[in-house]
Amino acid sequence: MKNIFLFIFFSVIISSCKTATQKEKVTGLITTKAMVVSAREEASKIGVDILKKGGNAFDAMAATELALAVAYPYAGNIGGGGFMVYRKNTGEIGALDYREKAPLASSKNMFLDSLGNVVKNKSTLGAMAVGVPGTIAGVFEAHKKFGSLPIAAILTPVIALAKKGVIVTKKQENRIKKYQPYFLKANKKTILFDKNWKQHDTIKYPALAATLERVLKNGRDEFYKGETAKKLVEFMQANGGIITEEDLAKYEAKWRTPITFNYDDLRVISMSPPSSGGICLAQIMNAIEPYDLDKFGHNTTKTIQVITEAERRAYADRSFFLGDPDFVTIPVDTLISKNYTKNRMDNFSFKKPTLSKDVSHGNIKMVESDETTHYSIVDKFGNAVSVTTTLNGAFGSKLYCNELGFFLNNEMDDFSSKPGVPNSYGLIGAAANKIEPEKRMLSSMTPTIVEKNGNLWMVVGTPGGSTIITSVLQTILNVHEFKMGMQEAVNQPRFHHQWLPDVIMMEPNKFDLNTKKELQQLGYTLNEKDSPVIGKVEGILVLPNGKLEGGADPRGDDKAVGF
Ligand code: GLY
Repeated sequence: MKNIFLFIFFSVIISSCKTATQKEKVTGLITTKAMVVSAREEASKIGVDILKKGGNAFDAMAATELALAVAYPYAGNIGGGGFMVYRKNTGEIGALDYREKAPLASSKNMFLDSLGNVVKNKSTLGAMAVGVPGTIAGVFEAHKKFGSLPIAAILTPVIALAKKGVIVTKKQENRIKKYQPYFLKANKKTILFDKNWKQHDTIKYPALAATLERVLKNGRDEFYKGETAKKLVEFMQANGGIITEEDLAKYEAKWRTPITFNYDDLRVISMSPPSSGGICLAQIMNAIEPYDLDKFGHNTTKTIQVITEAERRAYADRSFFLGDPDFVTIPVDTLISKNYTKNRMDNFSFKKPTLSKDVSHGNIKMVESDETTHYSIVDKFGNAVSVTTTLNGAFGSKLYCNELGFFLNNEMDDFSSKPGVPNSYGLIGAAANKIEPEKRMLSSMTPTIVEKNGNLWMVVGTPGGSTIITSVLQTILNVHEFKMGMQEAVNQPRFHHQWLPDVIMMEPNKFDLNTKKELQQLGYTLNEKDSPVIGKVEGILVLPNGKLEGGADPRGDDKAVGF
């Protein structure tokens, strides 16, 4: 009897040790030809249906983007903007910037009071917070250049979804409830989302369907010069905003050259300014490349130290150098050069943290939000598209146009309202990102595509404001350095450091207790309170056998769909 008790006792001990040390191997959806991973199953399905009908990744981009505007109004949008990075099956790469712009009537001090202090909520809530939306221009530009199906084939299922409605998930119910007090503050009239929506209810979007029907009939210009433009401007002005018909008429999406750099045998292709994503990612990856992270181990003290110190230095540079490249000169080549980052890491030691107060931007001789959403697409032809799109804050400015059926962004908060004063992501800005008419505000969005040995390997991105860059980074490292699959890499706990405040933010109760103790003993400040979730990553990995593995983040209602 005693022996049986001993046997049971040791079995329990051994099996609990196993669960503590062996991470469960999870695998995402595997398909042979094509895949879309997005924040809602309805949007992923619409994108995949387009691919099944013979459409390419760019057709699916247009469909998924607009379907997210219906199914995921938290961040999916036609009242916001975004960035797309693509890699065609020929290896050709490029990027599309459909970021919002500051209105013509905007000015550097528009969010300051007479004493020069930032007016609380003015850049985040209501009509003054809204930048000129770019999403419809982006979708039409991508489709015009690379699409293969008629725009009607893309818009028809989206309009049908808006009319049929979308079922509320538990997470969506909670989000709507959380933001209802802000909807009341931002809007003069009752809006669709003021209702007490519950899980399993169906929300129908007839006003949005009507707007999209007009866009289908009249094309891109319906939004920028047509009836929709007029109604939008009337609505903005009735709510104290400054966007005019001229602002909308002048809006153009822009093709950009993506940021590219090598890390071991990978070639990373990511978003260029006005997003800081690609440059920051390059700086961080260049800084950590000389260290043997795979030997240090996943999320160990040494790995967290190296990544934190690289992030600290990159975010200090971000704050100083980066802004809209059409307005400021950015020393891109220097910032992403291996030599520059090597010098920046020279004063790092494993013995103690470098304090952020002792880190400024690098010396370069100058020649002169968390609530976003990402989707990744690979089509059966081998084209890949990585898109991050946003209203900035959750439901943007919370200002909802009942007549047109959509929320407006609060992207003006991504400008630096006042140098040295943090925005809603705690990011400190400088003159490079000051408000100027028609300027695009600096972003952290990091839609990324990675090649391995010259072939398509990963499509990845995430929402999360300032944590976007570091979440994309950790997902790539989880696969490349720590040999995880796509879904496993997406599921891992994440941490983040952004120079100021000088803390390592960590997803709560997910990191090893000893690791946390060691970091604190070395002098790092940890914060597990303020970020229950860091990033919500959507990735697709091309496996060695050519099949695709999806990674849809379990932190949301996200879903990989494919065939
Ligand atoms: N609005 C979040 C970003 O662009 O980074």
